[in-house]
Amino acid sequence: MTIVDVITIDGPTASGKGTVAHKVADALSFHLLDSGALYRLVALASERAGIGMQDVEGLASLATRLDVKFGPDRVWLRGEEVSLAIRAEATGNRASAIAVHQPVRDALTALQRGFRKLPGLVADGRDMGTVIFPDARLKVFLTASVEARARRRYKQLIDKGISANIEDLLRDLESRDQRDRSRAAAPLRPAEDAHLLDTSDMTVDQAVAQVLQWYGAPGS
Ligand code: C5P
Repeated sequence: MTIVDVITIDGPTASGKGTVAHKVADALSFHLLDSGALYRLVALASERAGIGMQDVEGLASLATRLDVKFGPDRVWLRGEEVSLAIRAEATGNRASAIAVHQPVRDALTALQRGFRKLPGLVADGRDMGTVIFPDARLKVFLTASVEARARRRYKQLIDKGISANIEDLLRDLESRDQRDRSRAAAPLRPAEDAHLLDTSDMTVDQAVAQVLQWYGAPGS
C-alpha cells in the first residue's frame, strides 16, 4: 500500500498556519486541507438552520451531512459560495464553541482523512498532528505572540473588506485560544514529535522555507 505523505501544520488562531500551509502545498503541488473551514462551515450551517450551540446531537448530525465543495480558495455550502461568510469573526467564535463537542469532531474525522490523496497533503488546524493524522511524515506547530497574531488577523480582515477593531480582535483571540487549549476533546497542543516554529519575527517566506527544509524538499 502506498503511504501518502502528510505535513500537518497546527497552531493557535492567526498564527499564520493557513498562509504557510497554502504556500507549502503550492511548492510541493500537494493537496490542502483547511480543517478550520469545516468547523466554520458547521458553525454557519447550524446558525442558518437554527440549531443551538449546545444541541450536540443536532450539530453532529448536521456535520455528518455537510454538503460542501472545495475549490482553489473557495468553498460552497449546498451550492452557495460562502468563502467570505465563513471568515467573519463571529463565525470563527461560533466554530470554536461548537468544536468542543466530541461528537461534532468525530463527525468530521472521515471527511478530513479523505483529503489524504496522492501526491500528498498539507493539513492545517489544531489537532492535525495529534488526532487526525498521527502518522504524518512532518508535524509543525506554529506559534506567534498574541499581539503579532492580532495585527495579522486585523490586516487579513481589512484586506478582505471586513471591518475590524484591533482591541476586540485581541480579546477574541485570547478567549478563543483559551477555549481551544483547555477543552477536553482534542485540545490545542503540539504533538510530541512536532517541530515548533515561532513566527512572531519571521516573514511568511522564511517560515515556508523552514517547513520545506524540515520536510526535505529538493532545493530547500
Ligand atoms: O483555524 P480557524 O480559525 O479557521 O478555526 C476556527 C475554529 O475551529 C478554531 O478556533 C477551533 O476551535 C476550531 N478548530 C478545531 N480543530 C481544527 C480546526 C479548527 O477545533 N482542526
